[in-house]
Amino acid sequence: MTATVTSVTVELRTDSDDVAISTPRLSWTTASTTGEWTQVGAEIELDGEHLSAVDGRDSVLVAWPFAPIVPRSRHAVRVRVTGNDGVVSEWSEPREFVAAFLADGEWVAPLVGLASPERVAQPALLRTEFMIAAPLVRATLYATAHGAYQVQINGREVDDQILKPGWTPYPRRLIHESTDVTALIAVGANAIGVQIAGAWYTERYGFRVTSPPFYGEQPAAALQLAIEYADGSTDRIVTGPDWRATGEGPIVASGIYDGESHDARREQDGWAQAGFDDGGWHAVRLDSDPMPVPTARTSPAVRAIEERAVEEELVSASGQRILDFGQNLVGRLRIRVRGEAGTVVTLRHAEVLEHGELGVRPLRLAKATDTYTLRGVDEEVWEPAFTFHGFRYAQVTGLPEPIDGDDVTAVVIHSDMRRTGWFESSHEMLNRLHENVVWGIRGNFLYLPTDCPQRDERLGWTGDIQVFAPTASFVYDTNAFLTSWSVDLAMEQDAAGGGIVPFVIPDVLHDAATPAAAWGDAATVVPTVLHERFGDIGVLETQFDSMRGWADCLLALAGDRMLWEGGFQFGDWLDPTAPPHDAALAKTDPHIVASAYLYRSVDFTARAAAILGRHADAERYAALAERVRAAFLSEYVTETGRMMSDAQTAYALAIVFGLSGSSAQRAGMGQRLAELVSENGYRIGTGFVGTPLIADALTATGHLDVAGRLLTQTENPSWLYPVTMGATTIWERWDSMLEDGSINPGEMTSFNHYALGAVADWLHRTVAGLAPAAPGYRVIRIAPQPLAELDHATASLDTPYGPARVAWRREGDRVVVEAEVPANTTAEVILPGREPIAVGSGAHTWTVDSAPPSGS
Ligand code: BGC
Repeated sequence: MTATVTSVTVELRTDSDDVAISTPRLSWTTASTTGEWTQVGAEIELDGEHLSAVDGRDSVLVAWPFAPIVPRSRHAVRVRVTGNDGVVSEWSEPREFVAAFLADGEWVAPLVGLASPERVAQPALLRTEFMIAAPLVRATLYATAHGAYQVQINGREVDDQILKPGWTPYPRRLIHESTDVTALIAVGANAIGVQIAGAWYTERYGFRVTSPPFYGEQPAAALQLAIEYADGSTDRIVTGPDWRATGEGPIVASGIYDGESHDARREQDGWAQAGFDDGGWHAVRLDSDPMPVPTARTSPAVRAIEERAVEEELVSASGQRILDFGQNLVGRLRIRVRGEAGTVVTLRHAEVLEHGELGVRPLRLAKATDTYTLRGVDEEVWEPAFTFHGFRYAQVTGLPEPIDGDDVTAVVIHSDMRRTGWFESSHEMLNRLHENVVWGIRGNFLYLPTDCPQRDERLGWTGDIQVFAPTASFVYDTNAFLTSWSVDLAMEQDAAGGGIVPFVIPDVLHDAATPAAAWGDAATVVPTVLHERFGDIGVLETQFDSMRGWADCLLALAGDRMLWEGGFQFGDWLDPTAPPHDAALAKTDPHIVASAYLYRSVDFTARAAAILGRHADAERYAALAERVRAAFLSEYVTETGRMMSDAQTAYALAIVFGLSGSSAQRAGMGQRLAELVSENGYRIGTGFVGTPLIADALTATGHLDVAGRLLTQTENPSWLYPVTMGATTIWERWDSMLEDGSINPGEMTSFNHYALGAVADWLHRTVAGLAPAAPGYRVIRIAPQPLAELDHATASLDTPYGPARVAWRREGDRVVVEAEVPANTTAEVILPGREPIAVGSGAHTWTVDSAPPSGS
């Protein structure tokens, strides 16, 4: 037996057995003890009784070959494969899954909340009791909220998820969880207790104290419990007028930006158990806020992923107690405390210290403060339920001194995606840079991809994820997460009209009427990246109208000149020459950025159309893209490759997007780009737009050495300058912290913004040399370009086909390259100074003679 099926995945989620659709796609990976293994066929078995055969190599996102599954049904699939050696594998382990969606018309639950709230965004407790007369086989809870909720049945939490149901454009898309709660329910009297708070639903967006709550004034929840009895009969417990509510629960106030206040003296023992006296409670209010029919969760849930202990306890210059967790992270603190009733513990969070005090100015209006009022019983353990903070430091009052062991623990929370990618090299600072990139993802993938996780913002800024999606999609399996967010994008784009993609998704800034280059292009770029990295054609299919809508919107703006000029632009946002107060004042002409992105989006639309077999669209957009390219060249580029905007980002855009004519012109662009970088002393000269591209642009035009010097520069501004300043995340500005340790005077200064970390994708693809050569890494490109500054580098990736790895190390003046190519894939290998070769799966080693020539 040479091949073993090592994993089977059903549709996209990797964090649960839940499947959100009736015809889920299937993927499996195979490991083989012999090299050059490819699949010639596979068999899929469903529930031990249905069988289906796949001819050929397909093993990633294979169409569901059986009858559609029905709500609440449980299944198991097994797969076995036949290899090109003719040998048939054993059956895989069964992969179990559950149909976690509702049938059309099955959702009946209305949202309920507090009948007479006393203040805006008042947290509340809801409850009901019900009788179970006979043994049941299954109970499934479907629940959602305007705001966030936690459910207990008979006093026990139903799941380990946090801040459910997350943030989607609520009036258009509301997500429900589906939770098997059979084990929590007993024959006799039962109770459901629900805790609700406003979270994103009642948050005030727009950076003004005076902004009203955006979606609605009060939280509400909708639940339905589907009960299946042993005798085949069914029953349903549904939120409705008979439910009871109180605003007198322990959570006194809660907000995403401001934090949470919990008064444990108000805890009501047994409130989520049968027999509780809810005489002091009131009938609920049936919520009248409009609500779409909730749909099943398709993206990973948010969970507590890691805990970190206090690293150091400090006393600030003014005598404040500050705890240092040693890592800028996103989550909240769990405290364990004893003390007198009424004692207040205050936890104030911040990312940095400035002049020895908590640096809270960058948080702007976000208070980021939690308080806990002790009940005065024995030991009390508390963690806020409906908020999160971006912090490394917490200023605390009311806690015993000194902090002992796990009295205070930082709980890291984020969307529970599968970690897939790693990078490591001989350069310690580079390794820390990469680690900072990883923490940037962890901090900003919390139901939606955000710009930052700490200040009064935390929005789904399109430009940030547009540049960062490739990096994130190496480090984590982002497919389910970003596919779900792309659905939101398309909905908000539809609502905006004219194909315009709002700046942030969900759109809470109301500037939807303005298209902006490199931001709205998330509509075309993110699905393209997901297809490239995960081999998912489905996302191109579902997003195609959105891609085309954006391309058409830009083409209309461009008109006959085929250039996008005029109008508002963010441009090469935050290039280091932009002054602290005006991040858009960059060196590169914003029209060049806009016209380059016009080309990018039209080109990507053409490519998607071709992949989807939409031939007429493919031809039309390809021809339009050609016209944009011609217009771009004639307007902005001289024959020898000098550009109208003689700035790094302009050249990087043109080179990487393919906006050049002859190869001599492209070489000229590369030469000029290298000169500009060198004239700038190998310090970074690019912003959000140019930074993800510049290393690729230099490498592709034969200037790897220049890219290496730029990458390993430590003087400000550079990728490594923040590392020299002790950064543990990627900063929003090159100099979010100035060299004297003070915070950048700009009012917009975060220490956890992933965008400028997008260079990590180049580390993976080029420095280590592991890239997709065909969608989903069905063909892998092994093409390391050893930097002079490094002795070794390794990238490892769990591709959709299984683990791949490329590692190189210097041995004297030779370079040894090792690679692991997963079964059922092939690789094209391009080594310095060698002719390209193709290899099959298995382990490979090559030795090349010397350091590479610069570039390719
Ligand atoms: C955000 C950015 C975003 C930008 C757009 C900022 O406030 O934090 O990351 O892309 O605005 O201009």
